[in-house]
Amino acid sequence: MSNASSIRCLITAGPTREFIDPVRFLSNPSTGKMGFALAEAAVEAGWTVDLVAGPVHLEEPDGVILYPVVTAEEMFHQVDALFDVCDILIMTAAVSDFRPVEQHAEKGKKGAASMTVEFERTVDILKTMSARKAHQTLVGFAAETTEVERYARGKLEAKNLDWIVANKVGASGTGFAADTNEVLLIAADGSSLKIGPDTKTAIAQELIELVTPTQ
Ligand code: CTP
Repeated sequence: MSNASSIRCLITAGPTREFIDPVRFLSNPSTGKMGFALAEAAVEAGWTVDLVAGPVHLEEPDGVILYPVVTAEEMFHQVDALFDVCDILIMTAAVSDFRPVEQHAEKGKKGAASMTVEFERTVDILKTMSARKAHQTLVGFAAETTEVERYARGKLEAKNLDWIVANKVGASGTGFAADTNEVLLIAADGSSLKIGPDTKTAIAQELIELVTPTQ
Protein backbone atom coordinates (compact mmCIF):
# COMPACT_ATOMS: atom_id res chain seq x y z
CA MET A 1 0.00 0.00 0.00
CA SER A 2 1.18 3.52 -0.74
CA ASN A 3 2.10 6.05 1.91
CA ALA A 4 -1.28 7.64 2.82
CA SER A 5 0.14 11.14 3.07
CA SER A 6 1.28 10.97 -0.55
CA ILE A 7 -2.21 10.23 -1.92
CA ARG A 8 -3.92 13.20 -3.56
CA CYS A 9 -7.63 12.73 -3.99
CA LEU A 10 -10.10 14.65 -6.15
CA ILE A 11 -13.72 14.39 -5.02
CA THR A 12 -16.79 15.95 -6.64
CA ALA A 13 -20.00 16.42 -4.69
CA GLY A 14 -23.48 17.84 -4.84
CA PRO A 15 -25.71 18.82 -7.74
CA THR A 16 -25.09 21.18 -10.62
CA ARG A 17 -27.44 23.93 -11.77
CA GLU A 18 -28.16 24.59 -15.43
CA PHE A 19 -29.77 27.99 -15.88
CA ILE A 20 -32.66 28.83 -18.22
CA ASP A 21 -32.54 32.47 -17.13
CA PRO A 22 -31.06 34.24 -14.08
CA VAL A 23 -33.79 32.93 -11.75
CA ARG A 24 -34.63 29.46 -13.15
CA PHE A 25 -32.53 26.35 -13.40
CA LEU A 26 -32.56 22.56 -13.91
CA SER A 27 -31.04 20.64 -11.00
CA ASN A 28 -31.60 17.60 -8.74
CA PRO A 29 -32.05 16.84 -5.02
CA SER A 30 -28.40 15.90 -4.31
CA THR A 31 -27.25 17.46 -1.02
CA GLY A 32 -23.56 16.58 -1.31
CA LYS A 33 -23.59 14.66 1.98
CA MET A 34 -21.96 11.50 0.60
CA GLY A 35 -19.20 13.44 -1.16
CA PHE A 36 -18.48 15.59 1.89
CA ALA A 37 -18.43 12.47 4.11
CA LEU A 38 -15.91 10.92 1.70
CA ALA A 39 -13.80 14.08 1.78
CA GLU A 40 -13.74 13.98 5.59
CA ALA A 41 -12.85 10.29 5.61
CA ALA A 42 -10.07 10.89 3.09
CA VAL A 43 -8.62 13.70 5.23
CA GLU A 44 -8.77 11.37 8.27
CA ALA A 45 -6.89 8.77 6.23
CA GLY A 46 -4.12 11.32 5.71
CA TRP A 47 -4.87 12.10 2.07
CA THR A 48 -4.63 15.52 0.42
CA VAL A 49 -8.17 16.34 -0.71
CA ASP A 50 -9.42 18.63 -3.48
CA LEU A 51 -13.20 18.90 -3.16
CA VAL A 52 -15.14 20.29 -6.13
CA ALA A 53 -18.68 20.99 -4.96
CA GLY A 54 -21.84 22.19 -6.63
CA PRO A 55 -24.28 24.36 -4.64
CA VAL A 56 -24.72 22.67 -1.23
CA HIS A 57 -25.58 23.77 2.31
CA LEU A 58 -22.81 21.97 4.16
CA GLU A 59 -19.89 23.16 6.22
CA GLU A 60 -16.52 23.06 4.55
CA PRO A 61 -14.73 20.00 5.97
CA ASP A 62 -11.51 20.76 7.85
CA GLY A 63 -8.39 20.10 5.87
CA VAL A 64 -9.83 20.05 2.34
CA ILE A 65 -9.23 22.47 -0.49
CA LEU A 66 -12.73 23.46 -1.59
CA TYR A 67 -13.56 24.58 -5.13
CA PRO A 68 -17.18 25.77 -5.35
CA VAL A 69 -18.81 25.48 -8.78
CA VAL A 70 -22.35 25.86 -10.09
CA THR A 71 -22.78 24.37 -13.56
CA ALA A 72 -21.65 21.07 -15.12
CA GLU A 73 -19.37 23.07 -17.41
CA GLU A 74 -17.69 24.76 -14.42
CA MET A 75 -17.34 21.43 -12.63
CA PHE A 76 -15.78 19.95 -15.77
CA HIS A 77 -13.19 22.76 -16.04
CA GLN A 78 -12.28 22.49 -12.34
CA VAL A 79 -11.91 18.70 -12.49
CA ASP A 80 -9.98 19.00 -15.73
CA ALA A 81 -7.53 21.41 -14.06
CA LEU A 82 -6.95 19.13 -11.05
CA PHE A 83 -7.08 15.67 -12.65
CA ASP A 84 -3.47 15.29 -13.73
CA VAL A 85 -2.13 15.77 -10.19
CA CYS A 86 -4.63 13.47 -8.47
CA ASP A 87 -4.10 9.80 -7.68
CA ILE A 88 -7.79 9.03 -7.33
CA LEU A 89 -10.92 10.71 -8.67
CA ILE A 90 -14.17 10.00 -6.83
CA MET A 91 -17.19 11.41 -8.69
CA THR A 92 -20.12 11.51 -6.28
CA ALA A 93 -21.56 14.63 -7.91
CA ALA A 94 -25.00 14.38 -9.44
CA VAL A 95 -24.01 16.18 -12.62
CA SER A 96 -26.91 17.38 -14.71
CA ASP A 97 -26.90 15.44 -17.97
CA PHE A 98 -28.63 18.26 -19.84
CA ARG A 99 -28.56 22.04 -19.95
CA PRO A 100 -30.75 24.53 -21.78
CA VAL A 101 -29.46 25.29 -25.28
CA GLU A 102 -30.13 28.97 -24.60
CA GLN A 103 -29.50 30.82 -21.35
CA HIS A 104 -31.48 34.04 -21.37
CA ALA A 105 -29.77 37.10 -19.87
CA GLU A 106 -33.01 38.47 -18.43
CA LYS A 107 -35.80 36.81 -16.46
CA GLY A 108 -38.41 35.41 -18.86
CA LYS A 109 -42.03 36.55 -18.50
CA LYS A 110 -44.78 33.95 -18.31
CA GLY A 111 -46.71 35.28 -21.33
CA ALA A 112 -47.86 32.16 -23.20
CA ALA A 113 -49.83 29.32 -21.52
CA SER A 114 -47.03 26.82 -22.11
CA MET A 115 -43.36 26.91 -22.94
CA THR A 116 -40.85 24.53 -24.47
CA VAL A 117 -37.21 24.50 -23.44
CA GLU A 118 -34.67 22.77 -25.63
CA PHE A 119 -31.90 20.95 -23.74
CA GLU A 120 -28.50 19.73 -24.92
CA ARG A 121 -26.16 17.21 -23.30
CA THR A 122 -23.50 18.37 -20.87
CA VAL A 123 -20.03 16.89 -21.02
CA ASP A 124 -19.63 13.51 -19.27
CA ILE A 125 -16.86 14.52 -16.86
CA LEU A 126 -15.99 11.02 -15.66
CA LYS A 127 -15.91 9.54 -19.15
CA THR A 128 -13.71 12.38 -20.40
CA MET A 129 -11.23 11.94 -17.53
CA SER A 130 -11.28 8.17 -18.01
CA ALA A 131 -10.23 8.61 -21.64
CA ARG A 132 -7.07 10.41 -20.57
CA LYS A 133 -6.37 8.47 -17.39
CA ALA A 134 -2.72 7.74 -16.64
CA HIS A 135 -2.04 6.36 -13.15
CA GLN A 136 -5.33 7.53 -11.60
CA THR A 137 -7.85 5.30 -9.87
CA LEU A 138 -11.37 6.22 -11.01
CA VAL A 139 -14.43 5.77 -8.82
CA GLY A 140 -17.93 6.51 -10.10
CA PHE A 141 -21.28 6.59 -8.37
CA ALA A 142 -24.44 5.25 -9.96
CA ALA A 143 -27.64 6.60 -8.49
CA GLU A 144 -30.51 4.50 -9.77
CA THR A 145 -34.17 4.03 -8.90
CA THR A 146 -34.41 0.56 -10.47
CA GLU A 147 -32.16 -2.31 -11.62
CA VAL A 148 -29.41 -0.65 -9.60
CA GLU A 149 -26.71 -3.32 -9.98
CA ARG A 150 -27.27 -3.93 -13.69
CA TYR A 151 -27.10 -0.22 -14.60
CA ALA A 152 -24.11 0.33 -12.30
CA ARG A 153 -22.17 -2.52 -13.93
CA GLY A 154 -22.98 -1.00 -17.33
CA LYS A 155 -21.53 2.35 -16.24
CA LEU A 156 -18.44 0.70 -14.74
CA GLU A 157 -17.72 -0.79 -18.14
CA ALA A 158 -18.86 2.11 -20.34
CA LYS A 159 -16.77 4.66 -18.40
CA ASN A 160 -13.84 2.24 -17.93
CA LEU A 161 -13.75 2.71 -14.15
CA ASP A 162 -11.82 0.93 -11.41
CA TRP A 163 -14.79 1.02 -9.06
CA ILE A 164 -18.43 1.99 -9.07
CA VAL A 165 -20.61 2.62 -6.04
CA ALA A 166 -24.18 1.56 -6.80
CA ASN A 167 -26.70 3.52 -4.84
CA LYS A 168 -30.47 3.09 -4.87
CA VAL A 169 -32.16 6.47 -4.71
CA GLY A 170 -35.75 7.24 -3.93
CA ALA A 171 -36.14 4.54 -1.24
CA SER A 172 -36.52 5.92 2.28
CA GLY A 173 -33.29 6.12 4.23
CA THR A 174 -30.97 5.83 1.23
CA GLY A 175 -29.62 8.10 -1.45
CA PHE A 176 -30.29 11.80 -1.75
CA ALA A 177 -30.55 13.94 1.39
CA ALA A 178 -30.55 11.04 3.88
CA ASP A 179 -27.93 10.71 6.63
CA THR A 180 -27.82 6.95 6.11
CA ASN A 181 -27.10 4.91 3.04
CA GLU A 182 -26.58 1.39 1.72
CA VAL A 183 -24.37 0.84 -1.31
CA LEU A 184 -22.87 -1.90 -3.42
CA LEU A 185 -19.20 -1.37 -4.28
CA ILE A 186 -18.36 -3.09 -7.57
CA ALA A 187 -14.78 -3.57 -8.76
CA ALA A 188 -13.53 -3.64 -12.35
CA ASP A 189 -12.98 -7.41 -12.01
CA GLY A 190 -16.72 -7.83 -11.37
CA SER A 191 -16.50 -8.64 -7.67
CA SER A 192 -18.81 -6.73 -5.35
CA LEU A 193 -19.32 -5.91 -1.69
CA LYS A 194 -22.43 -4.61 0.06
CA ILE A 195 -21.72 -1.79 2.51
CA GLY A 196 -24.33 -0.66 5.05
CA PRO A 197 -27.01 0.17 5.86
CA ASP A 198 -25.06 2.61 7.96
CA THR A 199 -24.41 6.32 8.38
CA LYS A 200 -22.87 8.08 5.39
CA THR A 201 -19.86 8.80 7.63
CA ALA A 202 -19.27 5.10 8.36
CA ILE A 203 -19.87 4.10 4.73
CA ALA A 204 -17.44 6.80 3.59
CA GLN A 205 -14.72 5.54 5.92
CA GLU A 206 -15.12 1.99 4.62
CA LEU A 207 -15.18 3.13 0.99
CA ILE A 208 -11.98 5.18 1.39
CA GLU A 209 -10.22 2.16 2.89
CA LEU A 210 -11.41 -0.15 0.11
CA VAL A 211 -10.59 2.07 -2.88
CA THR A 212 -7.17 3.20 -1.60
CA PRO A 213 -4.88 3.23 -4.66
CA THR A 214 -1.88 0.93 -4.62
CA GLN A 215 1.05 2.77 -6.14
N1 CTP B 1 -21.12 11.86 -14.41
C1 CTP B 1 -20.22 12.76 -14.96
N2 CTP B 1 -20.64 13.67 -15.88
C2 CTP B 1 -21.93 13.71 -16.27
C3 CTP B 1 -22.87 12.79 -15.72
C4 CTP B 1 -22.43 11.88 -14.79
O1 CTP B 1 -19.03 12.72 -14.59
N3 CTP B 1 -22.32 14.62 -17.17
C5 CTP B 1 -20.64 10.87 -13.42
C6 CTP B 1 -21.34 10.93 -12.08
O2 CTP B 1 -20.70 11.82 -11.18
C7 CTP B 1 -21.26 9.49 -11.60
C8 CTP B 1 -21.27 8.68 -12.89
O3 CTP B 1 -20.88 9.58 -13.94
O4 CTP B 1 -20.05 9.22 -10.92
C9 CTP B 1 -22.59 8.07 -13.22
O5 CTP B 1 -23.55 9.10 -13.23
P1 CTP B 1 -25.10 8.81 -13.49
O6 CTP B 1 -25.83 10.11 -13.48
O7 CTP B 1 -25.56 7.72 -12.56
O8 CTP B 1 -25.07 8.17 -14.90
P2 CTP B 1 -25.07 8.77 -16.35
O9 CTP B 1 -23.76 8.42 -16.97
O10 CTP B 1 -25.44 10.22 -16.33
O11 CTP B 1 -26.20 7.90 -17.05
P3 CTP B 1 -27.82 7.95 -16.93
O12 CTP B 1 -28.17 9.37 -16.60
O13 CTP B 1 -28.28 7.49 -18.26
O14 CTP B 1 -28.19 6.99 -15.81
